[in-house]
Amino acid sequence: MWIAFLTICGLIIGTQSSATVTSQLQMEANAILNSGWWNTSEACFNISDRCTWDDIFCNDAGSIKAIKIDWGSKLATPNLSTLNYSAFNNLESLVISGSDLDGTIPKEIGHLSKLTHLDLSHNYLKGQLPPSIDNLRQLNYLDISFNFIQGSIPPELWLLKNLTFLDLSNNRFKGEIPSSLGNLKQLEDLDISSNYIQGSIPLELVFLKNITTLNLSHNRLNGNLPISLTNLTKLVYIDIAYNFLTGILPPNFGQLKKLQVLMLKNNSIGGTFPISLTNIPLLETLDISHNSLIGYLPSDFFTLTNYKTSIDLSYNLISGEIPSMIGNFRQLLLSHNNLTGTIPHSICNVNFINISQNYLRGPIPNCVDPYRVIGNKDLCSNIPYKKIYFEFQTCLPPKKSNKVKHYVFIALPILIILILALSLIICFKFRHTSVKNKHAITTTTTTTTNGDLFCVWNYDGKIAFDDIIKATEDFDMRYCIGTGAYGSVYKAQLPCGKVVALKKLHGYEADVPSFDESFRNEVRILTEIKHRHIVKLHGFCLHKRIMFLIYQYMERGSLFTVLYDDVEAVEFNWRKRISTVKGIAFALSYLHHDCTAPIVHRDVSTSNILLNSEWKASVSDFGTARFLQYDSSNRTIVAGTIGYIAPELAYTMAVNEKCDVYSFGVVALETLVGKHPEDILASLQSPSTQSIKLCQVLDQRIPLPNNEIVIRDIIQVAVVAFACLNLNPRSRPTMKCVSESFATELTPLKTLLSEISLQQLLSQELKALFHIVNH
Ligand SMILES: *[C@@H]1O[C@H](CO)[C@@H](O)[C@H](O)[C@H]1NC(C)=O
Ligand SMILES: *[C@@H]1O[C@H](CO)[C@@H](O)[C@H](O)[C@H]1NC(C)=O
Ligand SMILES: *[C@@H]1O[C@H](CO)[C@@H](O)[C@H](O)[C@H]1NC(C)=O
Ligand SMILES: *[C@@H]1O[C@H](CO)[C@@H](O)[C@H](O)[C@H]1NC(C)=O
Ligand SMILES: *[C@@H]1O[C@H](CO)[C@@H](O)[C@H](O)[C@H]1NC(C)=O
Ligand SMILES: *[C@@H]1O[C@H](CO)[C@@H](O)[C@H](O)[C@H]1NC(C)=O
Ligand SMILES: *[C@@H]1O[C@H](CO)[C@@H](O)[C@H](O)[C@H]1NC(C)=O
Ligand SMILES: *[C@@H]1O[C@H](CO)[C@@H](O)[C@H](O)[C@H]1NC(C)=O
Ligand SMILES: *[C@@H]1O[C@H](CO)[C@@H](O)[C@H](O)[C@H]1NC(C)=O
Ligand SMILES: *[C@@H]1O[C@H](CO)[C@@H](O)[C@H](O)[C@H]1NC(C)=O
Ligand SMILES: *[C@@H]1O[C@H](CO)[C@@H](O)[C@H](O)[C@H]1NC(C)=O
Repeated sequence: MWIAFLTICGLIIGTQSSATVTSQLQMEANAILNSGWWNTSEACFNISDRCTWDDIFCNDAGSIKAIKIDWGSKLATPNLSTLNYSAFNNLESLVISGSDLDGTIPKEIGHLSKLTHLDLSHNYLKGQLPPSIDNLRQLNYLDISFNFIQGSIPPELWLLKNLTFLDLSNNRFKGEIPSSLGNLKQLEDLDISSNYIQGSIPLELVFLKNITTLNLSHNRLNGNLPISLTNLTKLVYIDIAYNFLTGILPPNFGQLKKLQVLMLKNNSIGGTFPISLTNIPLLETLDISHNSLIGYLPSDFFTLTNYKTSIDLSYNLISGEIPSMIGNFRQLLLSHNNLTGTIPHSICNVNFINISQNYLRGPIPNCVDPYRVIGNKDLCSNIPYKKIYFEFQTCLPPKKSNKVKHYVFIALPILIILILALSLIICFKFRHTSVKNKHAITTTTTTTTNGDLFCVWNYDGKIAFDDIIKATEDFDMRYCIGTGAYGSVYKAQLPCGKVVALKKLHGYEADVPSFDESFRNEVRILTEIKHRHIVKLHGFCLHKRIMFLIYQYMERGSLFTVLYDDVEAVEFNWRKRISTVKGIAFALSYLHHDCTAPIVHRDVSTSNILLNSEWKASVSDFGTARFLQYDSSNRTIVAGTIGYIAPELAYTMAVNEKCDVYSFGVVALETLVGKHPEDILASLQSPSTQSIKLCQVLDQRIPLPNNEIVIRDIIQVAVVAFACLNLNPRSRPTMKCVSESFATELTPLKTLLSEISLQQLLSQELKALFHIVNH
């Protein structure tokens, strides 16, 4: 009966196409019918319709080019040995995955000479890989993962030179990784994980120049972790966890600029943690736990601020202290090491930590869950339930030797008397102030925590929350001198006569307890910053739902108001504008490069540059963006003012110094142009804009300069501004470079201002002349 049917079938096709195609289609039809994979007894079964079946894909001539059977397929389990592979001369892709395939891979599979894609993963295949697989020379994708294939990895696999993807993982392969695999020059993805592979990692793998994923985890590899791995600069994922590797971490890991995942867990890798690992920008997972790392942690590593990053260095032999500067990232696991010293407050920047089982001592920051610090016997706490449940010591008085105790007993009263005396002298200088605050009075930072009131004050005298409320009549509108995105600014005269600006933040909804130790620490750091071009932050107060910052008062208000006021803009002549831009550059350079931890302003704009009565410019509001966002749910929200935000922030969350550099470029240009330079920025790439002359865009409200030095300075500011506005953050100069350029003595240029075009400002010659180098 079948023969009769097939004859009809053949006739139908035969009338449509040439003889060779007919026989090819005929062969395929026969093979499909004989395979037993498809149920020929079903009512709707019609072999002529095979190209429309879910599992079969044909080319235009009706010949089968792909067979795809996977979890979603309605077929019963196919039997690999019943397919006539010789019949499929046009088959390019064969996928039989998650289909409960049993038995071995038949050697006849080698007949599929056009095959480029073979996926037999997630089945129960046994036996060895047939040697005939080497015939599949067109193969670029080979996946036989999650089976029970035994034997060694055939060294002849190197003949499949077009392979880009090779997954042999989760099988029972034994023996070594053949060094011949180094010939698979196109390989991008190599996964041999979860087998019984022994021996060392062949050095020939260094020839896999295109490799991005290397997974050799869960095997029995031994020998050294090859240093040459770091030559494979396209690597994104490296997983060699759960092996028996020895040796040290290559010191130049930092070369792998694309690395996102480095898993070396559970090996015996020694040596110290390489500083170069600190330079990998995209790193998300770093797991070197359960190894033999020794030495100290590099102090600058944890300053990274990729909110996705997770670092696991637990179960090693790392000693020394936890670095005091720790950035914002997801997870830091350091348990079971030999760490000593105290827990830095900055550890609160990390979402999840575990530093248990070390030799840490001293107080536990409030943000730290005690379950994450257990097994450090010298830690202390003054919170009763923590002490009782976790058997921590009491923090005060410091439990040192008796000698120290004595000193404390003698020194403390003396110190208090001294401080009191000093404060009395200061107080006498000013008028009477109310004595409601019973806390210590010093000339350095004072922190008051009085019930639900929390204040930091870093100025002569003491902070009296009530005085401020009184001075502004509870923030009456009459005292309001400005409103911005973050809050309203009030002018207040304190009882001692001093005039300050109060910035009351609005939109503040977080609960008081979220202002933990690290936040207070941060406020303290900001109040301790001193620079002649930075508006002094005297203090900070937080009371129930009122939060305000206390600043030095700047008489002329913001650069924005000056530039947009036609009268003041004229008074604000070229010399003043140039020294304003220079001042901003010095301030930002100081924040980025001279503070113990770099401070990124995040919101440089003309509204945040303030001018005093002498037209001296100062940067204000640095770091305040974070005050608003200081609750764990949205710490990484992009701060900034539209029109000043670096373009890369549209697609990355990494707020860094280079974002400030861009905003500075906008402010500098705006100061020259007299209005926001959005038109110039939008069309800067176009030749017609580039041919515009500089003097045409300069603020027309003030006369063009004729002094050579002023002309040179204007050109310099313009060159610097355009360099800072480079769309590529890496090509922008650092603020240090900018401020050094401004600080360098230069001779006047012998150029006519009227001849300089925007294009020339973008040129390397002028950049070099002004010592602007890219970083
Ligand atoms: C497989 O197909 C080829 C070509 O159609 C044919 O020559 C051969 O006899 C077939 N083998 C079997 C076992 O059916
Ligand atoms: C094939 O289809 C027929 C008719 O639907 C059914 O009775 C038979 O059980 C099916 N055979 C298999 C192996 O599924
Ligand atoms: C099979 O399908 C073809 C065309 O798709 C049709 O001509 C033929 O009659 C069908 N055969 C049966 C037995 O239904
Ligand atoms: C597959 O078919 C072959 C030959 O017909 C047979 O020997 C084997 O037992 C079958 N395998 C399975 C798992 O049914
Ligand atoms: C690799 O593929 C290219 C085109 O994709 C082909 O021309 C070449 O012959 C293939 N190489 C081998 C060794 O088959
Ligand atoms: C590597 O990748 C590049 C870009 O994808 C490609 O042009 C090249 O042919 C690949 N192979 C080798 C050996 O570089
Ligand atoms: C490597 O393979 C293991 C086991 O097969 C798997 O658990 C792990 O996720 C893989 N690593 C990467 C980076 O994909
Ligand atoms: C790795 O790269 C360095 C520098 O590019 C080169 O000197 C060295 O020979 C390379 N190592 C290997 C094994 O190719
Ligand atoms: C580390 O690997 C060894 C061998 O693979 C295993 O016995 C041990 O349990 C692993 N350790 C951990 C912590 O997983
Ligand atoms: C780790 O600390 C323990 C206990 O203090 C000490 O015995 C061991 O030598 C230390 N190991 C290293 C590598 O510092
Ligand atoms: C921290 O690590 C220790 C030891 O590895 C473990 O016992 C403890 O459960 C961990 N704590 C948390 C909160 O995961």
